[in-house]
Amino acid sequence: MRNEVVAAFAPGRVNLIGEHTDYNQGLALPFAIAEGVTVRARATNGDGVRAHAVDLGEDDEFPLREPPGAEGWRAFVRGAVAECRRAGFEVSAADLRITGDVPRGSGLSSSAALEVALCLALLGLAGERSDRVALARLCARVENDWAGAKTGMLDQLASLFGAAETALRIDFRTLEIEPVRLRLGGWRFVVVDSGERHANASSGYNERRAQCERACELLGVETLRDASAAAVAGLPQPLRARAEHVLGENERVGEAVAALRAEDLPAVGRLLDASHASLRDLYEVSTPTVERAVARLREDGAAGARLMGGGFGGSVLGLFAPDAPTPHGGREVQPGPGAHVLSE
Ligand code: GLA
Repeated sequence: MRNEVVAAFAPGRVNLIGEHTDYNQGLALPFAIAEGVTVRARATNGDGVRAHAVDLGEDDEFPLREPPGAEGWRAFVRGAVAECRRAGFEVSAADLRITGDVPRGSGLSSSAALEVALCLALLGLAGERSDRVALARLCARVENDWAGAKTGMLDQLASLFGAAETALRIDFRTLEIEPVRLRLGGWRFVVVDSGERHANASSGYNERRAQCERACELLGVETLRDASAAAVAGLPQPLRARAEHVLGENERVGEAVAALRAEDLPAVGRLLDASHASLRDLYEVSTPTVERAVARLREDGAAGARLMGGGFGGSVLGLFAPDAPTPHGGREVQPGPGAHVLSE
């Protein structure tokens, strides 16, 4: 049944560990956060879509059928409409009002929150339901084909499957999602904005991804999940370093899950540090600004800290013991519920 008005919310995410593993069919451990994007959709007559980005004070208007591409937030809106229709959903004319509290370009996945909230609202108006993994794939196509960032599915799955007090161990080979209870006993995850804006599409993200594909070609494997450490050691640089990061990071995800289950938070802190060193030295996605932000977190007493998301700017993540105060400018992040429709 069609609805006249639907509001949908989708959260951003923090990735606890497991960076640049999703598009290598590896492992990651994200959680959805309380902050996110809300889209209020109202059915209209005609054959166009109007969108208003409240926080930016900007508008867009485009035809429902075959909308042309665009830049910035408009690419996501047009892509969400087009991909929902391409997937066979009966999306029709609408007014969309977008608000959010995930800082854009900060590595907390404001873009996935936007895609997911848009798609849930559009499907809600049309009275359609979708399997959540299929929806994550659809949203990833919006990011890949409309915003030009060849990202994996980490952010979309985290936004769609999040739950309170729970991190998600995602196996990107099978897309199996295992909830991992976060019993933190007063320890806190704190995010600090490095102040450097990143845009997945224009950063070295796509280049890193191409390097992983090249490494697979040379190794004769489908994905780096199938590569052995011995074979990787024979790759030319920088492909060897890139692949070594991915193999090591998959192992660290497994170790972090075990440490969380054992409530061994100091061990989680050490794994954050090891992940950061690997992202900086092997994957080379850090910057001087990000390094300063990570160093500051450690000076402020973090038991472990690392860059988060694609890199080249954005936010850094630190883990703080119960007796360590949250540093100035730090934002405590709690795992919260996944994307949902607020009203129909
Ligand atoms: C960005 C992408 C994700 C993932 C991370 C790195 O956040 O959107 O798909 O690849 O970078 O782990």
